[in-house]
Amino acid sequence: MKNIILIGFMGVGKGSVAREVIKLSDYVSVDTDDLIESMENKAVKKIFADSGEEYFRSLEKKVSHWLEKSVKNTLISTGGGFYKQKNLKDIGVVVFLDSSFDKILERINSHPNAVKKLKKRPLLEDLKKARELYNERLPQYKALADVVIDVTDKSALECAKELLSKVKKHG
Ligand code: S3P
Repeated sequence: MKNIILIGFMGVGKGSVAREVIKLSDYVSVDTDDLIESMENKAVKKIFADSGEEYFRSLEKKVSHWLEKSVKNTLISTGGGFYKQKNLKDIGVVVFLDSSFDKILERINSHPNAVKKLKKRPLLEDLKKARELYNERLPQYKALADVVIDVTDKSALECAKELLSKVKKHG
């Protein structure tokens, strides 16, 4: 089993899809934001507020090196900006969860914890800027992807099934 590395914009459902994949397979999962939060003993939002985005990106870099060297047979769910790490392809098969920006907002807003979900993501505070960031990143996510899953109007379970079948075919 190769590592699977899940990339995509904030709120697209990386965590939800990862949870379904581990139910359907022998994979266990880790999440780069969770690793960073436990390293720092602080929420991502607080790391941004106390030390800035650049510091957060340096932690992502540290995590990316550790993943490449030390992690096997694992589904790795990533923060929306983690795709910028240069060794992404050396970590595992890159799977991009694709959705329009409006559908992502719809998904977040329909969640019972919508306010909390928006609040914990500093880069979603200004929706105009977030849309610009989405437009800038979209072609980069696509260019990196070995496998693309269009998540539009699909449940996390459906996405997980599609992911496992496409990753298998990818070899
Ligand atoms: C970020 C996405 C967040 C988190 C941080 C920065 C980004 O993760 O890593 O707030 O740059 O897109 P999610 O994609 O899980 O929200």
